[in-house]
Amino acid sequence: MQNLIIYYSNSNYNKNLALEIQKKLNCDIEEIIDKYSDKEGFKLYFTGGLSTILGKKTEISNLKSRLEEYENIILLSPIWVGSLPPAIKSFLSQNKDKINNLVYISVSGDGHKNTDKALKGIFAQLGKHTEKYLLFTKKEIDNKTYKEQLNKFIADLAN
Ligand SMILES: Cc1cc2nc3c(=O)[nH]c(=O)nc-3n(C[C@H](O)[C@H](O)[C@H](O)COP(=O)(O)O)c2cc1C
Repeated sequence: MQNLIIYYSNSNYNKNLALEIQKKLNCDIEEIIDKYSDKEGFKLYFTGGLSTILGKKTEISNLKSRLEEYENIILLSPIWVGSLPPAIKSFLSQNKDKINNLVYISVSGDGHKNTDKALKGIFAQLGKHTEKYLLFTKKEIDNKTYKEQLNKFIADLAN
């Protein structure tokens, strides 16, 4: 099997992009759930934000997918307080030996300006670099200017 999409999303930007990519690649998909964070409100901003600042991990739901069977794990997540959300840190550190190639895609407030922070965060958990990544702002998603860049990225992945 070639591609598996794994996503973490609270206000659905990364979820919707994950579903769009899933349709294009016709591949498997699974969501990461943070057992200790809510999708919105105080718990998301306070617990999620503070845990991120403190560099904490969290407990995530058990994944059904067998990650090691896929050539590429396409991971989608937001950026929180200049870092990867705790659920993503947990996912990467728990599964680093099962991930063959990591492709990272993100929708966040600052988009590509977060590239260095995201790549540094991935390296810290995975112990290796990620060559393939794409970061969008929420604005680029809202005004649909992301489409051309996404299509080219997906076409390159599929080849
Ligand atoms: C706790 C918290 C902290 C955030 N910190 C940042 C940040 O430092 N930089 C940024 O670009 N966006 C930040 N954001 C905005 C999210 O990255 C953005 O809303 C993202 O698109 C949400 O993705 P989702 O809809 O898939 O959950 C933050 C959001 C939350 C909830």
